[in-house]
Amino acid sequence: MRLDKFLADTTDLTRSLAKKALHREEVSVDGQVTKNPATQVDADSEVRWLGRRLALVGLRYVMLHKPAGVECSARRGLYPLVRELIELPNVERLQTVGRLDVDTTGLVLLSDDGQWSHLVTSPKRRCGKVYRVTLSDALEGEALAEAQRDFAEGIQLDGEEKLTRPAELAMRAPHEAELTLYEGKYHQVKRMFAAIGHHVEALHRESVGPLALGELAPGEWRELTAAEVAAF
Ligand code: URA
Repeated sequence: MRLDKFLADTTDLTRSLAKKALHREEVSVDGQVTKNPATQVDADSEVRWLGRRLALVGLRYVMLHKPAGVECSARRGLYPLVRELIELPNVERLQTVGRLDVDTTGLVLLSDDGQWSHLVTSPKRRCGKVYRVTLSDALEGEALAEAQRDFAEGIQLDGEEKLTRPAELAMRAPHEAELTLYEGKYHQVKRMFAAIGHHVEALHRESVGPLALGELAPGEWRELTAAEVAAF
């Protein structure tokens, strides 16, 4: 790979800033200062910028137990970002695989592998996401049977062209539902319950496909194993 691309992939320099750093003679390859952005390097090359050894990192796959009050977006707004909880080099390259609302807790996946993220989120792959939903009012009896039918057949949400895909609803207690979705529309769980006249008081994602939060405490994260990555 070209040296300017290597620098852009391993630092926060853009390709044009990398060229400027080369011009300022800040970069060495295998002990030799080089100014040429087209110099060919690979993972075994000893590339240093301002004396710091740079290493290519492979694709990363992370699961996080998102606490409330943390945002799944790329830019800092009112709230801290999920990425800020993760200590990995070049963490800004990690994208969340789908999003949870700022007040939703639970399992968030992050990766810099766009193809894998697409696999996980594509509705065609039918990767079930299980949510624990706390409702303000009890849902039981005939209202529950009707909700289960509606969710299984698909709901027309405001502003959406298509019905929601079939979803599975079960109750763990009169105020606590388990909803399994196979897609991820904006505020989908809250909007689906609103469509049947129920308010979601708290929302927690327990699992995505074969991956469950397990022992991970709020705010904790870990990298996925190769088997977990492959399981999608
Ligand atoms: N559905 C919602 O309404 N919110 C989330 O955070 C996730 C799914």
